[in-house]
Amino acid sequence: GSFQTRIFAEGGSQYPITMEEWERQARNVLPRRYFDYIAGGAGRELTCAANETAFTRRGLVYRVLRDAADADPSCTVLGTAMSLPVMLAPAGVAELTHADAECGAARAAAKAGVVPVLSAMTSAPLEDVAEAAPEGDQWFQFAWPDDEKLARSLVQRAETAGYRAIVVMGDCYQAGWRPRELAAGFSPFRSAQGLGNYLSDRRFQELAGIDGNPRTSDGLAPDAVANVASTWNRVFTKPTFHPDDLELLRSWTNLPLVIKGVCDPAEASWLCEAGADAIVVSNHGGRQLDNGVAALECLPAVSEAVGERIPVLFDSGVRTGTDVLIALALGASAVMIGRPWLFALAVGGQDGVEHLVECLRTEFTAALALTGHRHCSSLSPADLVASFSSD
Ligand code: FNR
Repeated sequence: GSFQTRIFAEGGSQYPITMEEWERQARNVLPRRYFDYIAGGAGRELTCAANETAFTRRGLVYRVLRDAADADPSCTVLGTAMSLPVMLAPAGVAELTHADAECGAARAAAKAGVVPVLSAMTSAPLEDVAEAAPEGDQWFQFAWPDDEKLARSLVQRAETAGYRAIVVMGDCYQAGWRPRELAAGFSPFRSAQGLGNYLSDRRFQELAGIDGNPRTSDGLAPDAVANVASTWNRVFTKPTFHPDDLELLRSWTNLPLVIKGVCDPAEASWLCEAGADAIVVSNHGGRQLDNGVAALECLPAVSEAVGERIPVLFDSGVRTGTDVLIALALGASAVMIGRPWLFALAVGGQDGVEHLVECLRTEFTAALALTGHRHCSSLSPADLVASFSSD
């Protein structure tokens, strides 16, 4: 591929090639508590580890008699065209990682033709992130606040700003038990970081008693910060999400509605019946429930339950181009990566994220061709053996 040719011509890569190296360098550049917030997970982090290990148990079937040298990795999901079936997962407070933050990630994604999902808990207001990369499509992740006016306001702001889908975070109505955050005494939201969307929202300003129109918590007096944080903690999410809620959401927006955090086939089926436009099989990167089953292990049964009704997306543990291929073979239309893009942003800002995506693109496209496929759409479980052992 031309990417490899360029790296060789340059005498080696300026940025990491492997995820281990991105993580190692991110650990070196970030303050310990920020690194732990990003890398950490729930409990003993067994689920974090299991998410990645699950991929090493599947083997890809290598093929030589099909002419797939010009494999094309592009796809379209819910009307959004993507040059690669890899999206940037929503992740709160990217500014902890690098000053380029969400705007830099959005610019990198637009250049690479991949789609970022902006977190509700973004450092910068959603309008700023949309303006930073007007040439690229973006989706918006919505954390359903326990205040209907605020909920409606956030969804409508996202639609007005041009986001192409609403991704409802289904799996954070309860705080996960995260030992690394507790040990460090650090969670960004406790200090009103990552509240760019809320601080800039009229309804939130009303609830928190904020004067003016602050875009970040930077300039707020300490007692205002404490008040903002406690207001946000109080209204952060609706305590329960019910499939019927989709009707209400539908009355606020014409955008496709995607439910993120679905691992149970029965729940996936209910969501199809309730009118969801897509779901994301995800266990939040193992950050919510320890001893939770690896997300990849849930994908075959969820894909089967959903059938052809709606697209199934996937995240939690995707680290390489071949991981992307495995998830697609098990029924995903596209995947999202979380920690990988945050580590790349930490190390190289916008350029780092672009480099990461080019690595994934090159590895994925080669793997697509080497398994005998010219397009993502022909991947199926027949491309996998389940008994693979990497030992
Ligand atoms: C997340 N994730 C997340 N998800 C979401 O819907 N809204 C959010 O604000 C966040 N915030 C967040 C912060 C950080 C630091 C991480 C690492 C993750 C979860 C994210 O979207 C995704 O589900 C997982 O990160 C996927 O797992 P991997 O790729 O990190 O293994």
